Amino acid sequence: MKIRMAQKTSKVKNKTQHFYDRVADVHDFMMKINGYRDSVAKFLKSMDMEVNEDSLVLDAGSGTGIVTKGFYRANFRPKNTITLDLSLNSLKVSREQFKKDKWTVEKDVFPVQGNILELPFADQTFDLVLTCGVLEYVPLEDGLREFSRILKTGGKLILIPVKPSIVGSVLEFLYNFKLHPIKEVKERAQAYFEIQGDYKFPVTEPIGWSKMIFLLEKK
Ligand SMILES: C[S@@+](CC[C@H](N)C(=O)[O-])C[C@H]1O[C@@H](n2cnc3c(N)ncnc32)[C@H](O)[C@@H]1O
Repeated sequence: MKIRMAQKTSKVKNKTQHFYDRVADVHDFMMKINGYRDSVAKFLKSMDMEVNEDSLVLDAGSGTGIVTKGFYRANFRPKNTITLDLSLNSLKVSREQFKKDKWTVEKDVFPVQGNILELPFADQTFDLVLTCGVLEYVPLEDGLREFSRILKTGGKLILIPVKPSIVGSVLEFLYNFKLHPIKEVKERAQAYFEIQGDYKFPVTEPIGWSKMIFLLEKK
């Protein structure tokens, strides 16, 4: 499996990319030992995503592949999944993970290096977009508009933003992003999507310390 390069390098080869290139291994290990990975799988399982064998899925800002792995672990079997991230090292780590993971159907997963603000896909391509902890790096409106563009009408967006909390603020500092207030996320999302559900994870779940989840459908 080769990693496709879809980005205009000089424009987006920025601080974020370098940061995640440096920390990819450590970040992935930490998320494994604190139970975050298993927590993601558990909650994806409970979502009504209407995935079938023809579905095309995008994990936007896939990092080291935690969400994609959780998605396959939750027994979803789409036709193909594209994992897209700025950080080449994160994509390499994810590729190694998919090879080893007995749940992930590695041959169906295609990594692409790229920017969520300039997705290298035609309008109305995907049935489902998964995105976790990434819109915090870009202007909210621009990211949501781009996700809406590449989703089919009626397609789903599983949006897992960082929520305002003590852990969220610590992560904001450590990972150098900007939290979007949840009220604003809802208001902006409604321009392109119907909100079908918003869920708070219980605090006993590691993912609940910093995240919440929205199930959205493209209008
Ligand atoms: C906090 S990590 C989350 C990774 C993964 N979604 C997860 O839940 O484990 C943020 C990821 O977003 C990626 N990222 C940030 N800005 C991006 C952009 N404009 N386009 C694509 N990826 C981006 C980073 O490289 C990093 O891998």
